[in-house]
Amino acid sequence: MSVASPFRAMPGTDFKTKLAQLRIRIVGRLRLGLYSRSTRYGLCRDLGVPIEKPNAKIPIDVRPATETDLRSLLSLDESQDIEDRLEIAWRRAFADKGAKRCFVAIDQRDGAPCYMQWLFNAADNEFIQRLGGFPLLQPHEALLENAYTPAKYRGLGIMSAAMARIAERAADIGASHVITFVDEHNIPSLKGCQRAGFNPHMLHHRTRLLFGLIKGDDFETLAGADPRRTQRF
Ligand SMILES: CC(C)(COP(=O)(O)OP(=O)(O)OC[C@H]1O[C@@H](n2cnc3c(N)ncnc32)[C@H](O)[C@@H]1OP(=O)(O)O)[C@@H](O)C(=O)NCCC(=O)NCCS
Repeated sequence: MSVASPFRAMPGTDFKTKLAQLRIRIVGRLRLGLYSRSTRYGLCRDLGVPIEKPNAKIPIDVRPATETDLRSLLSLDESQDIEDRLEIAWRRAFADKGAKRCFVAIDQRDGAPCYMQWLFNAADNEFIQRLGGFPLLQPHEALLENAYTPAKYRGLGIMSAAMARIAERAADIGASHVITFVDEHNIPSLKGCQRAGFNPHMLHHRTRLLFGLIKGDDFETLAGADPRRTQRF
């Protein structure tokens, strides 16, 4: 089994796919407009607090991603709606930038990958800061980023089951706390995170100017008694 390598994450991408990816990313940029402001919840799971891990409606297992997994999960085709194509193009670009340590969930009925998410730790701070939009990770922290379940697998509880298990892999890279960021309007993802043992602890306000060419980030830790820490999505 070959683990996805940092700089050849999406090898063999043909010209047509590269062009499609570029077109979709331009659509994403144009949507940002001249000025946009968004808020994400920062959620945290303390691995020292045991949780009852949820199970998906299909049998799954999690393991490090291979290049074949990435190609399968991130293939672009005309049948996907534009929202999904934007999500895929975003992750393809993320992989191309050199994101390492991607994990996948596998559908044990046929071995097909059905979920993906990247795991980072403080050793990845340089890469994370280059991306922008994340606080500097402390030595005890890990970051889970860019969860994705292909449309045909959604609503089967795969995200929560897989994320609960992938988060625990953070202990292998020295972390005791795992954080993740989710747009305040992405209810499926917020629900999935919460079922995987994550709860809100900060807000990330992002301002983008000129189609996202200029970005500003502001992180706000929620006060201990803030009701958003314990709200249910
Ligand atoms: C977000 C995403 C990963 C969820 O994947 P999933 O495997 O379908 O998630 P789950 O089946 O575990 O569902 C998570 C929760 O959202 C709920 N849900 C699913 N679709 C929903 C919808 N359209 N509206 C409201 N809730 C929804 C599920 O019922 C579940 O809640 P529950 O635990 O209370 O039952 C998937 O929708 C996706 O890939 N979306 C596009 C990319 C994205 O938004 N990634 C997250 C970035 S932070």
